Amino acid sequence: MTDPRLSELARLLPELKLSTDPGDLEHHGRDWTRRWTPAPLAITYPASIEEVQGIVRWANGVGVGVVPSGGRTGLSGGAVAAHGEIVVSLDRMNRVLDFDPIDRILTVQPGIALEAVHNVARERGLLYPVDFAARGSCQIGGNIATNAGGIRVIRYGNTRQWIAGLKVVTGTGELLDLNRGLVKNASGYDLRHLVIGSEGTLGIVVEASLNLTSPPPPSQVMLLAVPAMDSLMRVFAEARHRLTLSAFEFFTDRALHHVLAHGAQRPFEETHPFYVVTEFDAADEKAEAAALSFFELCLNEGWVVDGAISSSEAQAAALWRLREGITESLAPHKPYKNDVSVRISAVPAFMAEMQELLSAEYPHFDVVWFGHIGDGNLHINVLKPADLDNAVFVEQCEHVTSLLVDTLHRHGGSISAEHGIGLVKKPWLSSVRSEAEIALMRGIKAVWDPNGIMNPGKLL
Ligand code: MLT
Ligand code: ZN
Repeated sequence: MTDPRLSELARLLPELKLSTDPGDLEHHGRDWTRRWTPAPLAITYPASIEEVQGIVRWANGVGVGVVPSGGRTGLSGGAVAAHGEIVVSLDRMNRVLDFDPIDRILTVQPGIALEAVHNVARERGLLYPVDFAARGSCQIGGNIATNAGGIRVIRYGNTRQWIAGLKVVTGTGELLDLNRGLVKNASGYDLRHLVIGSEGTLGIVVEASLNLTSPPPPSQVMLLAVPAMDSLMRVFAEARHRLTLSAFEFFTDRALHHVLAHGAQRPFEETHPFYVVTEFDAADEKAEAAALSFFELCLNEGWVVDGAISSSEAQAAALWRLREGITESLAPHKPYKNDVSVRISAVPAFMAEMQELLSAEYPHFDVVWFGHIGDGNLHINVLKPADLDNAVFVEQCEHVTSLLVDTLHRHGGSISAEHGIGLVKKPWLSSVRSEAEIALMRGIKAVWDPNGIMNPGKLL
């Protein structure tokens, strides 16, 4: 270890696991965006809160940026280390610390995978309801830093709703113990909520207390083929009125094309412009009858032309795979990703305007729409035509994002619904946040992180 700054770190924290191995630098210096070349100074693997504090204090002294690193499944470049930063991997801080059945609070270290949290909750007869496809790799600390959403927001809300308490190491190395699992705490600013969604720019989450809830009754999954965009929201309104929904997702024929090419099973003989995957409580015969009458109504009205309903867990998983496999099926095409939101009622008009703009200006692009339409959250992925030069493609995609920004502005939407701003959407932050808001955000950052070392260059 030739860098004197690292020798100093090793002297200060002799037990700290530290690596400058090129493979580790490469692995921990990037997230799923794959757009930046990783170039961190070193990777640290703290095993305790004290070690995290020590790293942050050392980084302040030597003026090195700190990049917190969870499962790195993010899609906005929030966990990229490309400028000689020290990466703080939370991989070793992955234990369950406590469970209190009266409070129904599970206290964990930040490096635990979301799926492990689901399993621990299930073993205790309870549910941690935030869920999405990256559940096996993403970590709870990253979920909190990005206020992760996912497929069950329609019923349970975002990560924010489930955080009962947080321990956080600020940009000065101070340890904060925020809210301590209290249900009621009317004692001024709730700093916990400032940390949630701050993308690692204020501090590092080192412990989290998670609220658990009762599991829902048995559910069913329905796949619907929808012939027209206008019908999507009609189906949604009826579904929400008649069923107890836990998910209402959609994708287009282009998304189905890619997911089938990636090994999923074709659901219907014919292809259709849109598909809805919805999950709802099916506790008894009454609930099942309600689902059937919802389906019949949609068919009779012509909003839906075909459908499939799960009658086993395996069938439900196969239907979910059509939606959850989309990201993986697109990854080899290196898509240019957009993750936007509008009010639910504005979805049809927004989609129609955007599709018109895209087919007029970029008819050669394969544009794949999918996402959490029941939350007004749409993922718009643009795939590179094989014969198009990469630099030209990126330039054109940035223009697509400008078109999106204008259209979103007219509909009062957001350029990032759940993936965060990170590096990818930073140029467009001012399209959704006012000057006054951004000035306040900068002021808050300066108080928490006066030397600007926490996840530098991200978000602001
Ligand atoms: C999803 O909903 O599948 C995720 O947000 C991932 C993605 O947008 O690719
Ligand atoms: Zn999503």
